[in-house]
Amino acid sequence: MEGWAPSPVQAERNSAGDCRFIPFRSEWEQSCYGDCVRSKPLLLVNIGQLVTLRGPGARPRRGLALSELGIMKDAAILCLGGMIVSVGRTKDALRDPWLKKNRKSVAEIDCRGRVVLPGFVDSHTHPVFTHPRLVDFEKRIAGANYEEIAEAGGGIRSSIEGVRGAGKAALTEKVASTFADMARHGTTTVEAKSGYGLSLESEIKSLEAIRGAAKRWAGTVVPTFLGAHVVPPEYRALSQDYVEMVCKEMIPAVARGKLARFVDVFCDRGAFSAHETAQILQAAEGNGLAVRAHTGQLTETRLDPFLRFKPASLDHMDYVNDADLPALAASDTVATFVPGANYFLGLSRYPEARKFIDAGVAVALATDYNPGSSPTLSMPMAMSLACTHMKMTPAEAIAAATINGAWALRLASRKGSVEPGKDADLAAFDVEDYREIPYWFGENHCALTVINGTPADSSAAR
Ligand code: NIG
Ligand code: FE
Repeated sequence: MEGWAPSPVQAERNSAGDCRFIPFRSEWEQSCYGDCVRSKPLLLVNIGQLVTLRGPGARPRRGLALSELGIMKDAAILCLGGMIVSVGRTKDALRDPWLKKNRKSVAEIDCRGRVVLPGFVDSHTHPVFTHPRLVDFEKRIAGANYEEIAEAGGGIRSSIEGVRGAGKAALTEKVASTFADMARHGTTTVEAKSGYGLSLESEIKSLEAIRGAAKRWAGTVVPTFLGAHVVPPEYRALSQDYVEMVCKEMIPAVARGKLARFVDVFCDRGAFSAHETAQILQAAEGNGLAVRAHTGQLTETRLDPFLRFKPASLDHMDYVNDADLPALAASDTVATFVPGANYFLGLSRYPEARKFIDAGVAVALATDYNPGSSPTLSMPMAMSLACTHMKMTPAEAIAAATINGAWALRLASRKGSVEPGKDADLAAFDVEDYREIPYWFGENHCALTVINGTPADSSAAR
C-alpha cells in the first residue's frame, strides 16, 4: 500500500476541472460541458465490501475474468480532482501521516459497512422521448406483440410526433431529470441515443437536448446518433431514400456539430436490413464516428458484415447464429444484453448469456431505458433479470454493468473500476454483500452516488 498523499499532478488536476460530455472521439480533452467540479478531497471510510474490479485492463473482460471482482473488506478510498487517488484499508488510511495532517480539509463519509462499487455504466439508453406508450402496454397485455403493435401504428413511430412537436428546452429538462434519476440508482455514466425525431431537424434537436442535459448533470454522457431507428412514416415506401439521407445529410451534420460519438442502427425485421445497416456504418466510419448496433432482437442477423467496422458493442442479441460466436469472441466488440426489454415485452426467451460467456465473448448489461420496450433506468433491475433469467452470476452481472459497460463505450481507461487514476465515480448500497444488489429487486438500495469525486446532491441519498 502506497501512502495516501496525492501527487503534485493529482493536486494540480483538482484545480483544472474535468470533462464529462464525450461528443467526439478526438474531443475528449478539449470539451468541457459539465460542471467542472473543483472538489474538496473526499475520503470514504469503513466500506464493508469494496468491489474494485481492479485488474488487467487491456481488453474487455470475458470468461472467468468476469467473476474477478477484486473485493476488499474494511476499505477506504481517497478522491481528489475528480479522480481516485488511493484505495486501501480504512485502518491504513486513518493512520496515514498526510491524511492525519490534512483531515480538516478532507470531506469524509463513513460508509458504515456498506457495499461500494464503481458507478454503473449504462451503455444503452433512449432517453429523448416525451410520453410513455400506455396504449402499446395495454395492447401487449391483451396479446399483441411488439411487431404487431408497430405495424398497427404504435411502437417507435408513435413516439415521433411528441419529439418533433417538443421544444428543445422541454426535451432537455426531461433528459436531465432522467439522468438525475439514474444517478439515484447508482449510474454515473450513460450512453444516450437520439432516435425518436427521425428528421434532420428533430434528430439534431434530440442530440442538442442530450448535450444540454449533460451540462446540467455531473455524470458522464456519451451521445449516440440513432437516426436509423425505424424509417419514419413520410419515407414509408422509400426506405432507401431515408438511408441515403441518414448517410449523406444526417451523419455529416452530426459529425460537424460534434453532437455524437457513436452511430447506432436498429438492424432487424421492420427496421433496417443488414445491407442498409452496413451502408450506415460505413458512412459513420467515413465521418469519423464510432459505431454500435441493435442486432438480433427479433430475428437472427449474421454478424460478419458488421464486425469489420469494429463496433464497440452489438446489443440485444436474443437471436444469434452460433457460428458467429468465435469471431465475436476474438474481437473486442462487447455483446450488450438488455433483459429489461425481454421482461417488459413479456417474452419467455432471454439472451443466452451462458453460451456467449462460455464462448469467450465479452458481455455487458444495460437498461435500454425507452418508452416502448424497457421503461426502467435501474441497472440493479437489469442485473437481477440477468441473474434470474439468463443465469449470469451476481459477480458476472456486476462486471457486465461496470467495467464491461465502460468497454462498450470505449471508456474503460477512465471508468468501470475503482483504481487510482480512474474517475471517482462510485455507488454505495445499503447492503452488506454485493450479491444483495441483484437479489433485492424492485427497490432502490443505492444510498449514495459519488460523481467526479463529489457526492451527488442529497436527494440522491436515501
Ligand atoms: O432497444 N429496438 C429498438 N429500439 C428500442 C425500442 C424502442 C422503442 O420501442 O421505443 C429497443 O428495444
Ligand atoms: Fe435500444
